This record gives sequence, C-alpha cells and structure tokens, in this order.
Amino acid sequence: MAYYRQVGEVPQKRHTQFRDPDGHLYYEELMGEEGFSSDSSLLYHRGVPSAIVASEVWELPDQSRTPNHPLKPRHLRLHDLETGTDPVTDRRLVLGNNDVRIGYVVTGAEPSPLYRNAIGDECVYVESGTGTVETVFGVLAYRAGDYVVVPRATTHRWVPAEPSRLYAIEANSHVAPPKRYLSKHGQLLEHAPYCERDLHGPTQVHLADGPDVTDVEVLVKHRTSAGIVGTRMTYATHPFDVVGWDGCLYPYTFNIDDYMPITGKIHQPPPVHQVFEGWNFVICNFLPRKVDYHPLAVPVPYYHSNVDSDEVMFYVGGDYEARKGSGIGIGSISLHPGGHAHGPQPSAIEASLGAEAFEESAVMVDTFAPLDLGEAGIAAEDPAYAWSWAGRVLP
Ligand SMILES: [Fe+2]
Repeated sequence: MAYYRQVGEVPQKRHTQFRDPDGHLYYEELMGEEGFSSDSSLLYHRGVPSAIVASEVWELPDQSRTPNHPLKPRHLRLHDLETGTDPVTDRRLVLGNNDVRIGYVVTGAEPSPLYRNAIGDECVYVESGTGTVETVFGVLAYRAGDYVVVPRATTHRWVPAEPSRLYAIEANSHVAPPKRYLSKHGQLLEHAPYCERDLHGPTQVHLADGPDVTDVEVLVKHRTSAGIVGTRMTYATHPFDVVGWDGCLYPYTFNIDDYMPITGKIHQPPPVHQVFEGWNFVICNFLPRKVDYHPLAVPVPYYHSNVDSDEVMFYVGGDYEARKGSGIGIGSISLHPGGHAHGPQPSAIEASLGAEAFEESAVMVDTFAPLDLGEAGIAAEDPAYAWSWAGRVLP
C-alpha cells in the first residue's frame, strides 16, 4: 500500500525526540516490509512495544490438510458449517496450501482477543454483518461486501456489532493491488477498476481505556519448521497506546460496491475482475454488471483448463449464471482444480444467450499451487457436484 497516510500526532522529523505533555519520550517503532526495503510506517507508543512478561503456547484450531486426491472439482456448502463464535480463534480451515489459507467463521457479537498474524497479510471478506476492527493504527468500520486488509504483524481485534460471516483469506505474503494497476510510484492508474478514494484506512488513533492497563494478552499466529503454530504473548502495557503514526503500511477496507467491473463486446477473462494479489495467488470479484454485447456473444464463460492454478469461487450474492443447475447457491464454494477443465453446466449456456446483465456476486481466489481441503472443507462437501456436468446420477 504505497499511499501515504498520517493519523494522530507525529514529530516534524522522524527519529527525533518526541515527548508527551509531561515530558516523557514516546517510543518510536518502525513497522516495515521486506527488511527496510519496502512500505513502512512509523508508530509512536506511550509504552515500550517490545516489553513482554510472558509467552505461552496458544493451541490453534485444527489446521490439518487433506490433498484433493483423487482429483475432483468440489462443492463446499459453507452455510452448513457450525462454527464457534469468535472472529479469530473459531475460524475453521476450509482450504489451504503453503501460500494461502481460507478459513470461515460465523461470529457472535463479542470481541475477539487481541491478535496478530505474523505469517502474512489477512484479507477478510465480510459476507454479512457489521462492526469494527480495532488496530494499533486506529479503528476500521466494516460492513457486508468489505475486504478488510490487515497487514502482517498488525495487532488488532474484531469487534462485531452483530453476528458476522467472515471469509478469512490468510496469506503467507503481502496482499496488494495488482502491479499492472499501479504507476511506477504506486498510484492506482486510470484503467484500474478502483482508486485510492475507495480504500478506507483509520482516521484517528485508538487508545486503550486508560494508560495504566497492564499485562495484556495478544495471540500471535506464526510459523516454525513444524508448521503453523500459535503463541500467547503477554505485554507489560496495552498495545493500543499509539498516539500517532504515518507511512504507507496500515490496514484498510475496500467494498465490492466500489469495484467498477470491466466489460466487453465478447466474454472477458477473469483477470479483468482482479482486485488484489499475493504471492502465488490472486483475488478476483465477479460483480453485477452488463455483459457482452456482440450480437452472437455467449455471456457465460467458455470451458477452461487453468493448467497452472486451482480456482476457488465463493458465491456471495445473486444467482451465478454459469453454475445454474449444479446445486451451487449463496454460501457455496466451488473448487475447480488445475489438471481438469471446467465451465458452465451445459443448460446454462443456452439459457444465458441474449442476457444483457448478470446480477451475480462471487469472490474468487486463484492459487498457483494445489489447494488441500481443511477439516471444514471436508465437513461441508456436497459429493454430487463432481458429476453434475455429465447429467447422470452417480454415487
Ligand atoms: Fe473458472
């Protein structure tokens, strides 16, 4: 996120003395990506950001992964899943590989613990619900249709105002707008389907209740040679003690209503629907739009064999034209793996001819390494889907 922002108080020159009204120095912290060689922000704390008094194991929920073997397209009904209600600790693993993991949770209205993901950025799609995300940078409001992008190692907590369905895309890398949408200095270009006005970062700092709060637990998800693990760190003072910050690294939200779909005379390929990219995966959204206007256009996609990727569609609104007749509905995921062609149910092709607009909404994650099924993916599977193109009833 190479888009400069300043919130709260910061000194005129970086790395210089900056004191509170009583004359105490604030503690300056640089949060920076790729060593000191990429986007960063400078945060000014009341307390020492490295002062911990305890570190214990936090047992993560089941992170096991089962290979997609024998190879099949899959249909997973996320709305059939029972989850606990914590926005962070009750996420159930649906799909994952060594680059990205997709978890799902239906929250209650209680805040999550303080948390940070030290593995990579999180891009949490809000399927439904409202609330806020409190972070060391300030507070973000969230609503249905938002992507909440939280940079790696950002201490935060989710505070739902009501039960919320969260689709958590957890990267092992950073999540950012596609490079082809950016100028050489990082501004979103004219041909991009959204611009900086659509990205909503914190507008004011968020200080914890009273500066004297002590011994505050933060859950940290991180990696070891043994895989993904959790640690509960206890801080001497509250991490929400930042009086000001500035820079180009911070959390933000982006709502799918602010994405301006790119359309064409004939069918446009999925990259025109891309919204973000991470290492070895992309995120796209298919949104209500006018469709192809050639007189002989076929508005639904042609069959395609994505030889280098697994494709995950999460159906979040409307009636997805190409999947009509497959059993897929709102809250469904389809996994179309590399090595096997996929496309519309045959009846959907004729049915789409002459359509002028689609009312569908879906969020897509395309990965460049095969995805395994998490325990929730196995629990939510509709086993009939793989055979739905053949038009036969099979076991
Ligand atoms: Fe596809």
